Amino acid sequence: MRTPILAGNWKMYKTILETKDFLRQFHKNTIPDNREVVICAPFPSLPWLTEACEGTSIQIGAQNVHWELEGAYTGEVSVAMLKSLNVTHVILGHSERRAYFAETDEMIGRKLRTSLTAGLTPILCVGETLEEKELGKTNEVVKRQIRTALEDVSPVEVGKIIIAYEPVWAIGSGLAATDEDAERVISYIRSLLPERYQDKVRLLYGGSVKPENIGTYMKQPNIDGALVGGASLDPMQFHQMLGEV
Ligand code: 13P
Repeated sequence: MRTPILAGNWKMYKTILETKDFLRQFHKNTIPDNREVVICAPFPSLPWLTEACEGTSIQIGAQNVHWELEGAYTGEVSVAMLKSLNVTHVILGHSERRAYFAETDEMIGRKLRTSLTAGLTPILCVGETLEEKELGKTNEVVKRQIRTALEDVSPVEVGKIIIAYEPVWAIGSGLAATDEDAERVISYIRSLLPERYQDKVRLLYGGSVKPENIGTYMKQPNIDGALVGGASLDPMQFHQMLGEV
């Protein structure tokens, strides 16, 4: 059995004060045992969050990391820096990083390998744009994104990755994919993974997930959780969604 995950991607939201406020309201000690909760916060909030969540079942993730171990890369953050804060997860290849920061499948693949070697759990994001969807290229796009990112990853390590299917047109738009559409693409993604690990890897849906629709995704056999943007910023909504995964 795959343990369901609720992951929040806070994107570029919340100062440290707002982070503290969130956690005060989130009731961090009321998480069901058989669920995983990951909060992926901006870098400045990570030291405080990891400390505040120590001993609870909330895990803390970053939203990006560099592929080199260290060096002259102004503005970047390394895996060792994240590990030293007890960060456990890292979002890689989010469509906003692909679109606004020109991240390519190759760069994402390098970040993935560095993260795995360091013992961080990558949450690899894939998904097609509206144009690609309309051209019927969804499968082709996610296949390319996954194949390139996993090119130099051993099957055993693939077993440690979490993959989030986030159609670009569904992110922040209120236009969530239907549960059947999400299930279809996600089961296709499962079929692309090394056979021995197909049943093991957790696959999430992301894109306008809210308390009202998360339950429908969770009923699908291949969907193991959600990566939530906007609705994860609200402690009440995030807690409510936890009851549905
Ligand atoms: P929304 O939930 O705001 O649509 O964002 C999804 C997302 O990008 C999560 O990574």
